Amino acid sequence: MKAEEVKQIVRERYGKCAETGGGKESCCCPSEATSLSFAAEHGLYGQEELSLIPKIALNLSKGCGNPTGFTNLQPSEVVVDFGCGAGIDVILAAHKVGPSGKVVGVDGAPQMIERAKESVTEVGLSDRVEFRIADMEQLDLLDSFADVVISNCVINLCPDKSAVYRGAFRILKPGGRLAISDIIYTERIDPQVQERFQSTWAGCVGGAIAEDSYFEIVRGAGFRQIEVVARHPLPSKELEAMVCCPGPEFTPAPAKEDVAVVQGKVTSIKFTAVKPI
Ligand SMILES: C[S@@+](CC[C@H](N)C(=O)[O-])C[C@H]1O[C@@H](n2cnc3c(N)ncnc32)[C@H](O)[C@@H]1O
Repeated sequence: MKAEEVKQIVRERYGKCAETGGGKESCCCPSEATSLSFAAEHGLYGQEELSLIPKIALNLSKGCGNPTGFTNLQPSEVVVDFGCGAGIDVILAAHKVGPSGKVVGVDGAPQMIERAKESVTEVGLSDRVEFRIADMEQLDLLDSFADVVISNCVINLCPDKSAVYRGAFRILKPGGRLAISDIIYTERIDPQVQERFQSTWAGCVGGAIAEDSYFEIVRGAGFRQIEVVARHPLPSKELEAMVCCPGPEFTPAPAKEDVAVVQGKVTSIKFTAVKPI
């Protein structure tokens, strides 16, 4: 599939999911409430954080971690959320940066942005939040605009991951930081299986790449001090949901045999990195 085709499919599938309000089954990592210490250790949402999120954004939450939970956001900071979906992490970031800060949510699916706007309005945070319908591979935000770029289970979906990380580097101020939750392979995958997965690209495994290649891209964009905060190898139930994200009614499930081949080799990682001063 050509890159433009992939992006259109991704946009359509997540757009339809947003229209329906979230689909029948949850995909990606569990968003059920966990204890604060467990959540912090594993880069997941804690109960207190989830209580700040309106139902619409919770139902459409399709992430695999909690990037604002491991970035130490400060009042007045400017945050950009790459692939913000219905706004769960935008809302959490907006609470942390306070009224003098700013959060920009970017997503390619207009229907997701509509949902995100509704969610942010519902919790009264519109004064410090902006949204852009845009392709993260071609962002037109200003150079040195942001203190922090966050992203939650999105970059795996992008055909040109280098373009995404180069863009993040460009819009960050010197000393600015990345906080990313994403899906990678921890072992080499049979190229034929990988090719078949690519036909189910909107699932968060179709565009996943090996961890070493992934971090080469992050370093190649200029980032340093890359630190993996948590990693979570997907157990079979989570993997089955993840391969047809945002839900089986939107993305056809790959063959069971192919899912079995990648079982144990797909991991959700949470990491931070810094743009050198
Ligand atoms: C798995 S969902 C995660 C959404 C959100 N981060 C969350 O945690 O709920 C992926 C999101 O990324 C968006 N997306 C995928 N590729 C994109 C691209 N190239 N540019 C902008 N948004 C993109 C999709 O529209 C979708 O809303």
